[in-house]
Order: sequence, then structure tokens, then C-alpha cells
Amino acid sequence: MKILATRRYPGPAFAELEDVEIVRLEELDAPQPDVEAVVVANEPVPLELLPDLRVVANFGVGYDRVGVEACLARGVVVTNTPGVLDAATADLTFALILAAMRCVVAGDRLVRAGEWGRAWSDGALADEVTGSTLGIVGLGRIGSAVARRARGFELRVLYTRRRHVETELGEHRELDELLTEADVVTLHVPLTRETDGLIDARRLALLRDGACLVNTSRGEIVDEDALVAELVSGRLRAGLDVFRDEPNVPSELFGLENVVLTPHIGSGTRGAREAMTRLVVDNLLAVARGKPPLTPVRP
Ligand code: DGY
Repeated sequence: MKILATRRYPGPAFAELEDVEIVRLEELDAPQPDVEAVVVANEPVPLELLPDLRVVANFGVGYDRVGVEACLARGVVVTNTPGVLDAATADLTFALILAAMRCVVAGDRLVRAGEWGRAWSDGALADEVTGSTLGIVGLGRIGSAVARRARGFELRVLYTRRRHVETELGEHRELDELLTEADVVTLHVPLTRETDGLIDARRLALLRDGACLVNTSRGEIVDEDALVAELVSGRLRAGLDVFRDEPNVPSELFGLENVVLTPHIGSGTRGAREAMTRLVVDNLLAVARGKPPLTPVRP
């Protein structure tokens, strides 16, 4: 099976693919009739140039840019990598919560700039993380992993979830109620037509003064202009790993001490990324052998 991959994906599993060429799909300018599979990291697939395509293996759990509906309409299987990145993403969520709430990055900058010129007992105070209320928007795999970690910090957990389930992980709330009650809100919904712009200006205004918004999901879920305005005003704080137009980040955020910024590294551990490649390869090998893929996307 001839495969195009948009980069060499990390880990030893990638070497198990025999006939693979590394290409930037946006640079293809002629039909590739012999290509049966592509590997992408949530990138658009030019179906019109791939007449024999059988499978798109997405490196990542989110597939909002792949064009899944068009693929499925043409009978092309799409797979993703659920499960193997939950722990890494939940860990980063807590790193952002702690960094934003405890002013870790601002403190680091102050020390490096040689501006730490006072006694430890003087200076501004942060809010306590332990014992505060955490609102989890989307109690799926990653949201649940965040909720389990929250127990260690003795957090009261509120959550939203599309389908009702009985769970000990927290108390269910409607979204607006959750935003009003929580000290920290963390987003764990996939990007879909329903969640695009879910946290709009009205909903951001529901957050209490000093609340912290953490996003390791997709930038498009938040109205980025409205969030920037709230952060520039100093009313909210945030830990942001994802942005609407990556790798571009609104420049208004660069000088703000109430925001911690990371470059979409939720799944960025060796363990998670190599396991994602393993799952990509296992999906491709299954399709090549005429077997059902392990983790097909069924929107
Ligand atoms: C995903 O899997 O969709 C993530 O965004 C990658 O970190």
C-alpha cells in the first residue's frame, strides 16, 4: 500500500511502514493515482488528487481539519488516536492550571530579569488551588483524566457532558451554571459545528472576576477576540495551549502576566506521541490486510 505522510512521525513504529513518502499535501499539484493511504496531523486531505485513497490515518484524537464527511462520503476510512494521549493532555492541563493560578511563569521572568529585589514575605499573593472549584467542560476521556487528577488537589469538580451518565467524578451542571460557579474552567470538548465559538463573549462574562480559563482542546471553541479583551483588562487569567490560527498567537497576549502560553503540546510527551504513531501504523496495517481499523472515526 503506497502511503503519503506529512512528516516522519515519532517513534519506532513508523519504520514498519514500507512504502511511505514524506510530502506536504498542500504542495501536491497533480493527481497521485497509486496512493492508497495518507497520514496527517489534523490537516486537510486533497481528495480530488487522491483517486485511489482508501484510508486517512490521523495522528491525533481531534480530526476537525481533515474533512471527515467528504472522506466518508467517498468511502475513505478515517482513523484517529484516542486514548493514548489522555494522561499527557490531562497532565498539561494541570501544569497550566498551576502555572496560571500560582504565577509560575511571571515569577520565573522576574527572577531571570534580576528583578527579585524584596523579601519572600512581601509581594502579591495568588489564590489557593487546593480546595477551589474546577469546571470541566466535556467529561470525555481527557476530561475524566483531569477529574481524577483533581482529587489529589481536593478540588470540587463540576462538569458538563453531552450524554448523561452516573459518575462519581463530579457534579453535573449546565454550561452557564458551571461558568458562574467555577474558579477554574478547563475545556475538553472536540471542535464541531456545535462547539465552534461555544465560549463566546456572553459566556466569558459569566466567569467570576479572577477566574482562570484553561484550553488544551481547540482555539476555535473560545471567541478568541473576546478572551483577549478579558485578559487585557486583567479580569480573567488563562492557560492556553491552543489558538484559533496556530502557530499565530494574538500579540496582545505576549506582555500579559495573567496568561500562560504553550505551543499546542497537550500530547507532547515521548510516550504519548510514540503511542499515537503506533496506533496510526496499526490502523494502516489493519486496512492494508483487509481487516477493520482499530480506531475508526464515526462522527
Ligand atoms: C489531538 O490529538 O487532537 C491533539 O490536539 C494533539 O495534541
